[in-house]
Amino acid sequence: MKIEKIKKSNISNVDFDNLDFGTVFTDHMFECSYRNGQWVDPEIKPYQPISISPSARALHYGQACFEGMKAFKDELGKVWLFRPKDNHDRMVKSSERLAMPAFSEELFIEAIKKLIDLDKDWIKTGIGNSLYIRPFIFADQNSINANEATEYKFMIICAPAKSYYSGDVKVKIEKSFSRASKGGVGYAKAAGNYAAQFYPTLIARKEGFQQIIWTDSSNHEYIEEAGTMNLFFRIGDKLLTPPTSDSILDGITRKSLIEIAKKEEINIEIRPIKVSEIIQAANNGELKEIFGCGTAVVVLPIIGFGYDEEHYDLPKIENSWSKFFKRKLNDIQYNISDDPFGWRFPV
Ligand code: PLP
Ligand code: COI
Repeated sequence: MKIEKIKKSNISNVDFDNLDFGTVFTDHMFECSYRNGQWVDPEIKPYQPISISPSARALHYGQACFEGMKAFKDELGKVWLFRPKDNHDRMVKSSERLAMPAFSEELFIEAIKKLIDLDKDWIKTGIGNSLYIRPFIFADQNSINANEATEYKFMIICAPAKSYYSGDVKVKIEKSFSRASKGGVGYAKAAGNYAAQFYPTLIARKEGFQQIIWTDSSNHEYIEEAGTMNLFFRIGDKLLTPPTSDSILDGITRKSLIEIAKKEEINIEIRPIKVSEIIQAANNGELKEIFGCGTAVVVLPIIGFGYDEEHYDLPKIENSWSKFFKRKLNDIQYNISDDPFGWRFPV
């Protein structure tokens, strides 16, 4: 792999206490091209603009997907990834659904390790500090023929990160728009899945919500997931989360929380959840918590939700499960506790 190091690091220009998620990037990036049926020319170079043809198919037809993962630094300065092979596996699934070639796991891991080795000073210690790693693939072929491309770029950029949301989060349970449909691309981290959410989310924001809880596209009867996270509901002494499907992203944080819940003997049910069940539980006081989870948000308590013009506030509770799961997860990610699941991956 060719490596060109930056002449002078930009790190001294960064205010690490006031990071706006995903707006500041580290000194280096990884780039690799797909040409004549092969991934070629893997290269790390200074973070910089790239040049692509105006006819690149990703710009016209959205043939692009991405991943999101994090690196964490422990108190001794050692850096850890969290289940990176799961991110690679999911990227292969997303690529396949978008008719794009798979990128090799070996080179994926090697590229991330080398990037982190160069940019490790950008990862600060302390819970809440991390490096958000964004691998992505897009069709850069010079042609607006509406078919799958034969030329692509795979790149990785990295952004130092603190929290994704700075304030309280309220969500709107959506009744009209849909994020994903049966047989569609909802399970993939397809770039277009996110673009399609911006307009409904803009409307929800004007109504005072930060995100949308998407429901099934057929009848808007069942809970699916939120825009950037999977969801958990605590009703009475039970924890509920919907099963993944072709319209729900198989979140790595979600499956980790499920395993933690099982190990901790929390009564968890993975089953379809009706919106009506949540409304009923909110009305009769059984709904104790809603929380989202994902790489960027980690575990995020939701303080209230809206449905059908009504607003519902969640109770403030002690010993919340969202806090419990966040701590358990962070303790593994930051090398504070043992890792009985084998999720921590040394860099
Ligand atoms: N659902 C969507 C739509 C997402 O964008 C994300 C973020 O990655 C998640 C769920 C959570 O997935 P993960 O835990 O793998 O980050
Ligand atoms: C992630 O958590 O990696 C996500 O995909 C959220 C991102 C779209 C900001």
